Amino acid sequence: MVAEVRQRIDQLDQSDELGEFRGRFVSDASGINYLDGNSLGRLSHDARAAILAAIDDEWGEELIRGWEHWTELSSQLGDVLGSELLGAAPGQVVVSDSTSVNLYKTILAALSLVPNRRALLVDANDFPTDRYILEGIAAAHGLELRLMATAMNDPISVDDFAPYLDDDVALVVVSQVNYRSGALNDLARIAYTVHSVGGMLVADLSHSVGAIPIALDDGDVDFAVGCTYKYLNGGPGSPAFLYARARLQSELTQPIWGWFSAADQFQMGPRYEPAPGIARFLVGTPPVLQLQALKGALGVVCDAGIERLRSKSIAQTQLALELFDAYLAPEGFRLASPREVAQRGGHLTFEHPDALAFSHSLFVDHRVLVDYRVPERIRFAPSPLYTSFAQVYEGVMALREVATR
Ligand SMILES: Cc1ncc(COP(=O)(O)O)c(C=O)c1O
Repeated sequence: MVAEVRQRIDQLDQSDELGEFRGRFVSDASGINYLDGNSLGRLSHDARAAILAAIDDEWGEELIRGWEHWTELSSQLGDVLGSELLGAAPGQVVVSDSTSVNLYKTILAALSLVPNRRALLVDANDFPTDRYILEGIAAAHGLELRLMATAMNDPISVDDFAPYLDDDVALVVVSQVNYRSGALNDLARIAYTVHSVGGMLVADLSHSVGAIPIALDDGDVDFAVGCTYKYLNGGPGSPAFLYARARLQSELTQPIWGWFSAADQFQMGPRYEPAPGIARFLVGTPPVLQLQALKGALGVVCDAGIERLRSKSIAQTQLALELFDAYLAPEGFRLASPREVAQRGGHLTFEHPDALAFSHSLFVDHRVLVDYRVPERIRFAPSPLYTSFAQVYEGVMALREVATR
């Protein structure tokens, strides 16, 4: 049985169209089997070269003249993200700040459109920053925060929304792929549901961008934010993106009136006037070195193409699931992700009372790097750009070994 499985895995690696992309990433000295690309993606040679060139040729040589092109980076990268990965027409995405700050800006901008509505809605199982930012805004502005009870391991259903939706709801914040379970939420359906009571949708795409094809314009999503250091491999601290529908932009007021968001930035005028379009969501001086690294990293993702990435990701998580059923379920693990492939993003989550200890042993004894999430869960995240099918197999078998010793 094991020999047969190994043979099949070797064939999968040999016929892998994306196999050559592994060579576009810097290998770590100790040969880690890295199954944590949904937390922090690996360093690509292109990102490394881009950041070194930005240091030596731009900061080192151009000095202040670099701003002649650096000011365009946030919007240029936003448009690349929009067209290649987000299903967004140009002029609707910028790269700036962190996802948390972008949530703050988009939520308050959305609220500026519906000043008479007082309720904010979020999945109680969503990532902490999404809930905390809403909690802070609700406290500061005297609004009501509704925490929606959902099943921890499944996509959110329209029925989950029903008890919380009424004509007081200003907006809903939802992650397209849940950070813990990997459950994939149907954004277009959620947008339709929220719009039916006159509310707006703010989507967090941190765990979906670069992992699954996204259709923001077609899905009628109002706002979106997301991280670039996960499946996009922009590096630690890589700035986040923000999407706002073109038809809403001219009416929006975002709350942080920094000079990069002003019309005629270098006129240094006496009063704030927001820039037309998506640039009004910028704040202050962007992290240029990180933007250049992201530009390099993004090129690798675009070369692979999101359709090919998704199909390899599906093949890898299906393989992991098959191995889970054969080798981990008998050892007391439970699947904490949807079984149905159409309901999953790029990672699987395994539940076990000893998950924390196992995640440590995996690294110490097998050089397999996964991450642990409360309660009692291990996230298992192959990244199709640099994870081989053999590494998926070895990761599951290492977990079995630490659980059975
Ligand atoms: C779903 C989700 N949203 C937001 C964040 C946090 O983003 P940031 O630290 O860039 O504000 C994370 C981080 O892992 C995340 O998983």
